[in-house]
Formats: sequence, structure tokens, C-alpha cells
Amino acid sequence: MAVLVTGGAGYIGSHTVAALLDAGEEVVIVDNLEKGHRQAVLGGKLYVGDLRDAAFLDGVFRENAIDAVIHFAAYSLVGESMTEPAKYYDNNLHGTLILLEKMREYGADKIVFSSTAATYGEPEQVPIKETDKTEPTSVYGETKLAMERLMRWFETAHGIRYVSLRYFNAAGAHESGRIGEDHDPETHLIPVILQVPLGKRDQVAIFGDDYPTEDGTCIRDYLHVSDLADAHLLALDRLRSGGASDIYNLGSGQGYSVQEMLEVARRVTGHPIPAAVQPRRAGDPAVLIASSEKAKRELGWQPKRDRLEEIVASAWNWHKQHPDGYEE
Ligand code: UFG
Repeated sequence: MAVLVTGGAGYIGSHTVAALLDAGEEVVIVDNLEKGHRQAVLGGKLYVGDLRDAAFLDGVFRENAIDAVIHFAAYSLVGESMTEPAKYYDNNLHGTLILLEKMREYGADKIVFSSTAATYGEPEQVPIKETDKTEPTSVYGETKLAMERLMRWFETAHGIRYVSLRYFNAAGAHESGRIGEDHDPETHLIPVILQVPLGKRDQVAIFGDDYPTEDGTCIRDYLHVSDLADAHLLALDRLRSGGASDIYNLGSGQGYSVQEMLEVARRVTGHPIPAAVQPRRAGDPAVLIASSEKAKRELGWQPKRDRLEEIVASAWNWHKQHPDGYEE
């Protein structure tokens, strides 16, 4: 039986495809390559097309014996989602709806879902637990929460079980140096920081230094993308062995400020990386840190690449080798 990975040519998707291939799984990938990269797909069978195209998706299910789906395909920029809500609802929700319908039609009854800390919104407490309130402060977070709820109703109606993984800040790159993070435009902190030593940017803008944190800059929970990928395989195991649907946070449980991230990147790259404080970016919560105790307990997940230096060094390794990202 094959595992279908939607969005498998994207950043987290491609690392998960690599982990599935390492585990000897038969992998089928669907990606429209709007954000993803053909070169990021290290193996498996790639179909280029859009989830919202039901006829296209039907062909994928007809040609492959798919028993489970890992669903990444979605738009994921918080800022953009606020100015283009329709685009996010259409791609994220409509795409998921067509996917679930095809799963039902072809009897694929397990789905691992790529969710986000953005489903919580402004946290009531840190570390954030799965039982905390979900009040997204962005359209992006709202669509991901709606996708989770959609899956819940599909389970009730059609018995499709799901595991939703709410990630905090994915970071780093594959140890082979073959795949990494390549977004256009790039907005994420670590790749933006590394653009300075690459000579692509003069300095980093620190979005606000008046947050209620020790140095005034925002604190996030950074997690190696390959540790994230591993969690998807464990979630798949859980569903295949009959486990119930559930939701898990994935983070390191450690928070680092923007200033601390700059310091680490300076040490890793040996470059002074100048930075200047700018106004806050709309919608940024001050502190986001995960409690991943539930994933550790119930999925047997344990992050292996948990030193921040190591995470940043793996990103640096990829960016040095691919200063212009993937060459299409
Ligand atoms: N930041 C800067 N300067 C930059 C870029 C980022 O100071 O040039 C700061 C941000 O303000 C934030 C932190 O660095 O405080 C991390 O920002 P990222 O954009 O790297 O990541 P976010 O925490 O905003 O977003 C991540 C995921 C989203 C997800 C969100 C959950 O990328 O998909 O976590 O809240 F929705």
C-alpha cells in the first residue's frame, strides 16, 4: 500500500517524503509546484496537479493503492492570509474537502494532518497544551482549525481517522544537505538571518523589541524539520495500528528570542549579521512555546536534533550549498 503525501515538494513535506522513503514506504506525491520544488522530491512518484482538481486527484487514487494520506498542501503565510482570506479558504479548505471526498470514495481511511500553533492564537499560558483554547488570530490559523474540524466530521460520518500535528517553528535542513527551506518570498526568521552572511541582505529587521520578554523580542519554539518529519511516521503508525484520532503539539519545549537566534546564527556562521529594530509585525504573539508531552507519551516521539546550534548549522549547510535555493 502507498502513502499519499500532498504538498510533498514543500519544505516540511519534502523532509517527510525523505523519511518515508528511508523507512521503505511506497510514496505517492501530489504537489501543484506553486510553492514546492520538483528537486525537493527525493523519490517516490510525483504527480503535478492541484487538490481542487477532482478529476486529477481521481486519477492519482485510481492508479495507486493508497491506504493513508499525509496532508501538507496549503497556503501558510500568516500575513498574506490577512489580506487575501478568500485565497486561503479556497485552497486550504476546498482542497481538503476534495481530498477527503476522494479518500472516502477509494477507502483510504487514515490521514495525518499538518496543523499549526496558529490554531491557538494568543496563548493563555505557555507551554501551550492541546487542551488550551483555540482562537486563531489569523485567517491562516482559522483555516487550519477549520480543516481539523472538517476531518472530525468526516470521521463521524465516514470513519476516516486522523492525527493532527500542530507544529511550532519548523527550522533547519536535511542532514544530507540535499533538501532545505526555499520560500519565495522568504519571511521566516532563520533563512532571513542567513541571507546576510550569504550577501543577499545587508541586515535583519527585528520586528519589535518592546514585547514583555527579557530582551523585548518575540520568543518562539524552534524544532528541526527532520524531527517533525519523524513525528508524521509515528502518527501514521498509530493510525495503522488502529489508534484513535487525536491532536498533538510538536515543539522543543524551549523558547528563544529573536535576539538569541541572531546570536546563535552569528556563532554558527562567524558573520557579525547586523540587525535593526523595526516596528512590530501585526499578529505576532509575544511568546509561543509548545508542550509536546502528549506526543512524547502517546506517539513515542522524541526530538533528536535538539541543540539550537545544530538546527541553525543544518540550515546554514543547506543555504551555503544552495545560495539561490533550488535551481529549477
Ligand atoms: N522575525 C523578525 N524578523 C524577520 C522575520 C521574523 O524579527 O525578518 C520574528 C517574527 O516577528 C517572529 C519570529 O521572528 O517573532 C519568528 O518569525 P517567523 O516568521 O520565522 O515564524 P512565525 O513564528 O511568525 O510563524 C511560524 C510559522 C507559521 C505559523 C506560526 C504559528 O512559520 O506558519 O509559526 O504562529 F503559523
